[in-house]
Amino acid sequence: MKRPPVTEHTGIVPLSIADAPSLIERLLPVQKLSAEAYKEQMAVHGKTLTALGSYWKGRKPLILAKACVLGCLLPATGNDKRDLEIFEMLMGMDEFSFAARAKRRPGPKEILAKLSLAHLRDYFEVTPDDVLRASAPVDWSNPAYQKVRVAWRKDLPERERRRLEVQLLPRANYRQRVAESYRPEEVPEVHDHIWDEVNAHLGTHAHSFPELLEQLGIMRFGHRPKVADTFCGSGQIPFEAARLGCDVYASDLNPVACMLTWGAFHIVGGTPEERERLARDQQALVERVQAEIDRLGIETDGNGWRAKVFLYCVEARCPQTGWMVPLLPTRVVSKGYRVIAELVPDPARERYEVAIRSDVTDAELAAAERGTVRSDGRGQDPYMVHTVNGREYRTKISTLRGDYKKPDGTTGNRLRLWELHDFKPRPDDIFQERLYCIQWMRPKNSGRSFEYEFRAVTAADLERERVVEEYVAKHLAEWQAKGWVPDMRIEPGEKTDEPIRTRGWTHWHHLFNPRQLLLGALINRETDARLKPAFCQVLNWNSRLSHWSVVDGGGGAVKQTFYNQALNTFLNYGCRGVGYAANHILIDYSLAPLASVSVVVDAIAANELLAPSDLFITDPPYGDAVKYEEILEFFIAWLRKNPPPEFAGWVWDSRRALAIKGEDEDFRRGMVAAYKRMTECMPDNGLQVLMFTHQSGSIWADMANIVWAAGLQVTAAWYVVTETDSALREGSYVKGTVLLVCRKRKGDLKTTRDDLAWEIQEEVEAQVATLTGLNQQARGLYRDENVFEDADLQMAGYAAALRALTRYARIDGRDMTAEAIRPRVKGETTFVDDLIAFAVNTANQCLVPQGIERALWSRLSGAERFYLKLLDMEARGAHKLENYQNFAKAFKVRDFYAMMGDRRANHARLKSAKEFGRAEMSEGSELHGSLLRAVLYALMELQADVDTGQVLAHLTHNVPDYYGDLTQRERVIAIAEYLAGRLESLRPDEASAARVLAEAVRNHRVG
Ligand SMILES: C[S@@+](CC[C@H](N)C(=O)[O-])C[C@H]1O[C@@H](n2cnc3c(N)ncnc32)[C@H](O)[C@@H]1O
Repeated sequence: MKRPPVTEHTGIVPLSIADAPSLIERLLPVQKLSAEAYKEQMAVHGKTLTALGSYWKGRKPLILAKACVLGCLLPATGNDKRDLEIFEMLMGMDEFSFAARAKRRPGPKEILAKLSLAHLRDYFEVTPDDVLRASAPVDWSNPAYQKVRVAWRKDLPERERRRLEVQLLPRANYRQRVAESYRPEEVPEVHDHIWDEVNAHLGTHAHSFPELLEQLGIMRFGHRPKVADTFCGSGQIPFEAARLGCDVYASDLNPVACMLTWGAFHIVGGTPEERERLARDQQALVERVQAEIDRLGIETDGNGWRAKVFLYCVEARCPQTGWMVPLLPTRVVSKGYRVIAELVPDPARERYEVAIRSDVTDAELAAAERGTVRSDGRGQDPYMVHTVNGREYRTKISTLRGDYKKPDGTTGNRLRLWELHDFKPRPDDIFQERLYCIQWMRPKNSGRSFEYEFRAVTAADLERERVVEEYVAKHLAEWQAKGWVPDMRIEPGEKTDEPIRTRGWTHWHHLFNPRQLLLGALINRETDARLKPAFCQVLNWNSRLSHWSVVDGGGGAVKQTFYNQALNTFLNYGCRGVGYAANHILIDYSLAPLASVSVVVDAIAANELLAPSDLFITDPPYGDAVKYEEILEFFIAWLRKNPPPEFAGWVWDSRRALAIKGEDEDFRRGMVAAYKRMTECMPDNGLQVLMFTHQSGSIWADMANIVWAAGLQVTAAWYVVTETDSALREGSYVKGTVLLVCRKRKGDLKTTRDDLAWEIQEEVEAQVATLTGLNQQARGLYRDENVFEDADLQMAGYAAALRALTRYARIDGRDMTAEAIRPRVKGETTFVDDLIAFAVNTANQCLVPQGIERALWSRLSGAERFYLKLLDMEARGAHKLENYQNFAKAFKVRDFYAMMGDRRANHARLKSAKEFGRAEMSEGSELHGSLLRAVLYALMELQADVDTGQVLAHLTHNVPDYYGDLTQRERVIAIAEYLAGRLESLRPDEASAARVLAEAVRNHRVG
């Protein structure tokens, strides 16, 4: 039956908001969004799409994509505060949503014990009904109430229930709240309370996202909105758009990205029935593969034990003794089970037997930490070490490999390059491979769990190895011909050089040992499109690059190849038995059935786009450290020859040459071509959101150029913190994403540089005023938190500047499109660079902290502004290192660490005057010769009880031209008074010293 047109039963008017500005062009609650995005990023394996491919690292948070899609479609109605409230409801960020997001929702009795209610029966059913009073709170310790049962009234609207629950939410700031709650996407009913208010505000008639988005699409574009992402990667953005109810077009140059995106739509987004079928097929696949392995008898010991993990290591001949030595960075096999390997010399054969001992003592375990490969510290060459007849022999691994300098300065080595039909070392290769331990498992008598044992390798084990090798030798060529196993060369590259250089592996199948090749062939042969992502996960978790962790998983674990993006080889690694490998097939993916929307996945370069779309939300490979185009060949090699019909239309090649990469001219040209094409495929009232990582100031000029040359115009920019580096790594870096919102540039507007300067200033000031105004308006909604922090205002300031700039096609008679694509000459600042620098400066000027006159501010150096600004933020309780990083960038401070007393991510603060002491006075310092430094020095002395006369004498010496320029005195007083105000609660002693100084300078007779 055909559905009646949406307009008929909803009363919405097509194109009624066709030209309305979008919410994201006016406001975005970036602080809350940052907290949500951060939570999602930190969920790691709990993320909705990660199970499809944990090897894909640069996933953009779904919640960020959701904010972009909604932000583009929702109109800015002119009532900012209400727009913000409604947007937050849709994002699950309002108070009532938090009632539903709580990890534990309070029960009726708890609510009645804590809240005051005049008529509790308005909310609850009580049985028996004649015992409780009409009102709450109820004292449940009263014995008379022992038998009373209370339950929520069935006819109670969800909103009313949440109204009560909200009152019990802990008083915490937004970040803490988010940390203690579920993510909105984890709570299906989170939005149940919002629809009446949403519809009243927007004039819609919706009770779900797909309904709302369809209606908004009709109001803006005349049809259900179509969202495109031409750099779709793992599919985070298009999946979220489809889940919300948009039609979606996703494309990427890389077919592995296409597969992951396809998987997001069809596996995670599939129906429950499809999911049940998939679960059955997963099970059947594992059973078939298991049966084949059992038939070969290669993973069982004949006594009821199955192999869980086979541990292999490289073995090499010591050039000094002629002995074969297993290369083991540690002899610990399992920390949890206290298992170690011992090398038992076999002088007759000049080699070592590897004995395996379990349940060893602490001392033995500690001694085994040191293996036969060591290094004398970071960055030092590792060497092989072993002892024969009491004498220790050391040989560098680079010496074993035969490293030498080539005439062109690069390093070569004497490893034999493996050939197509190789799958194990040949007998005379430098690096041999040796099985040195097996972890066995068998069901316990109870049948519920397993017992495990690590054992040394026996003759029977070696016989089974031989069976595997023979089987692979016999079938490899056939498997390669059929496309079940790769026959593809490893093309050299920044990352792909590594396996070639360190092992001589030249083809992708060399990264897999015989057991892994056999397992890979069996699974590849049996899998259809829906099972291919799981197959790729098996490859990821079971290759010669799968490191053996002696601590993870309790007793040890085989890790993923892509634990990082480097394709590092290891001297020892773990190989999974079928049962253990099957963990990555029997995956219970998240289920989020998509509404009936259209989804298309294409493997094309972004500049080849043909499909028109209303919105483009893209995350291009800007300054991307991930070499997708190289490392994903690891999977492409397995899938390219025999892809399932669903993937057969894609080019199964990474097409490295077409990938946009780097930061130079080629990169800009690639980006311009891509964005130009997207702009051509977008209607006049379409919108783009372009995401990029904020790295350095030069990014703004790059982006302005790209946008200009693509025929776009910036309308807003927002900065969202998506993750911080974990405490595991040194330093605390913040990773943020800038959202650049753009529209088509229309007409051929002209201006002059002089006029533009004024316009930029006005635009920036207006923007900052709007957002600070919203901070004020939203006080009630946000308790004491700000909708926008200073860094957001600064970003908005940049955006406003870009908005003014990119509106024009011609400036001072120059064609800006042509100007933008003009090749850059190193070291030369272009016309555009100049304009951007001017704009950025203007934006910063608008961020004068309160209490400092603009005239004084404009005379201060970047380092002084940085200190004074951040002190202002500290006084307001902000201690995030990211603020310091951002402002250091903004004020062009080279080394802001020199001014920091604490650099921890959430406890950052500036040095006090005392902590500075006498430091940072000399010429090399950014504070050298500055008024601020002179003032801080004086504060340090005053606190050390130096005589005031002497303090002043030093001050007059430290302040340049103190006597010649009388206004310098005024400035010193202004700075001292400012510090006194800001330091009042932070450091009262220093504050009082600042007051004393201000007074002393004021009374100081000059001349
Ligand atoms: C930063 S990633 C996108 C990540 C994605 N947003 C996610 O959350 O997973 C950039 C993507 O651009 C793709 N790419 C690089 N050059 C391309 C080109 N010329 N055309 C299309 N895609 C390209 C890469 O394969 C990569 O998947």
